[in-house]
Amino acid sequence: MSGGARTISFLSGKGGTGKTNVCVNLGVAIQRLGKKVLIIDGDLGLANVEVILGLMPRYTLYDVLYRDMEIRSVVTYGPEGVLIVPGGSGALELSKIDTDRQKILMEQLIDLGDNLDYIFIDGGAGIHQDVLTFALGSDEIIIVMTPEPTSLADAYTLIKAVTLSNAQKEIKIIVNRVKSSIEGEETVDRLNILLERFLRFSVTHLGDIPDDIWVERAVKEQLPFVIRYPFSKASRAVNEIALKLLALEKKGTGFRGFFRNILERISIK
Ligand SMILES: Nc1ncnc2c1ncn2[C@@H]1O[C@H](COP(=O)(O)OP(=O)(O)O)[C@@H](O)[C@H]1O
Ligand SMILES: [Mg+2]
Repeated sequence: MSGGARTISFLSGKGGTGKTNVCVNLGVAIQRLGKKVLIIDGDLGLANVEVILGLMPRYTLYDVLYRDMEIRSVVTYGPEGVLIVPGGSGALELSKIDTDRQKILMEQLIDLGDNLDYIFIDGGAGIHQDVLTFALGSDEIIIVMTPEPTSLADAYTLIKAVTLSNAQKEIKIIVNRVKSSIEGEETVDRLNILLERFLRFSVTHLGDIPDDIWVERAVKEQLPFVIRYPFSKASRAVNEIALKLLALEKKGTGFRGFFRNILERISIK
């Protein structure tokens, strides 16, 4: 098998941890390092992918699902040439369309994915079944959390749901909005103590992003902070994480693997 793009789902226990910002900026940073990245917006939170990128897509996945539109006509170009699939309210309704339409969409996505290196899915917050399905389909899972105790509890609940589904995936953690470099380390240590004790599971610490006023500014200006404020602390942290992800490079299974994983799960039920 020749392999395919690495599919990575970005998840969080609750909204507001900065998941969309991390997903988008990391995607742009990786594209800048010479990889081809596609970001699928599957989060219905407030500031979604297109808002953060200042895009105003005419069509979204919703049009693909319900208006017979081709996925290629819905794909939009973002900064540095990253490809974006705007989700609209379509992303979470994939499971609701009939199987013929699902098959067509699958084929279109597999075609689209053939030339890509990375497929990032901004997967939504919480343990909604469709969010989990996305996560289980992808090769890797990255959870974005903050150092707050509530975020720790939410991350634990999310990881429990993922492990209970027997996905046996490595889960990587990015701690966002840290106030010091040890805060991220402490957060992941605390999480791992809980996980090891109750689930016999542990996560890996991919990196931290500092709390940085330039993030908020960039969001208001509708540009990714790695482009608008490349020398900010947050940008430097994201670039470091991008390099780390590339260094950990492994073959992905692309959209083919993504759908295979999902279909296997559905037929088990
Ligand atoms: N590292 C950070 N430093 C400062 N503010 C941040 C940081 N990350 C996120 N934020 C703030 O949090 C808000 C929500 O981020 P967003 O990515 O939309 O979260 P989510 O997708 O998890 O709901 C942003 O608009 C920004 O103001
Ligand atoms: Mg979001």
